[in-house]
Amino acid sequence: DERTFVMAKPDAVQRGLVGEIVSRLEDRGLKLVGAKFMQIDEDLAHEHYGEHEGKPFFDGLVEFITSGPVMAMVWEGADATRQVRQMMGATDPAEAAPGTIRGDYGLDLGHNVIHGSDNEDPGANEREIELFFDDEELVEYDRADAEWVYEDTGDH
Ligand code: GTP
Ligand code: MG
Repeated sequence: DERTFVMAKPDAVQRGLVGEIVSRLEDRGLKLVGAKFMQIDEDLAHEHYGEHEGKPFFDGLVEFITSGPVMAMVWEGADATRQVRQMMGATDPAEAAPGTIRGDYGLDLGHNVIHGSDNEDPGANEREIELFFDDEELVEYDRADAEWVYEDTGDH
């Protein structure tokens, strides 16, 4: 199954939304295979958001993402990257649909609660997982309810 990188951003940690974010992904049937509560330093921030280097909001983005602890996670499931992006909602919480994480918990583009790998950037999920996690920090196991989440359990 596909794996994707997800992060509760510093605003989510400070606002006590980590549990809510984890719950939503768990309830969907996605499987948590890695998690790390950590502080992102300047170098990691530059690598993670390298695609935005040079843009007018880049310095503010780095400042924000390094401003406090984050919960970095890896989630696994069918079509996981795209499904998580759908659950996150639009980048700007002001435009994100109600029912999405950003649409329910955010109001400001710069503080948009959650990160998920870009499903339109091939390989972004694997790249980000590698940037934040060593192989041995990811766990392989079956969720007990997999046969109820998926019609064909054999693939999961
Ligand atoms: P991430 O999951 O954080 O990568 O968000 P995203 O993939 O939905 O958006 P993108 O990668 O394009 O932008 C990364 C982050 O930069 C966003 O989450 C925003 O917080 C911020 N950002 C993007 N565009 C703008 C902008 O035009 N102005 C400002 N101030 N911030 C922006
Ligand atoms: Mg992005």
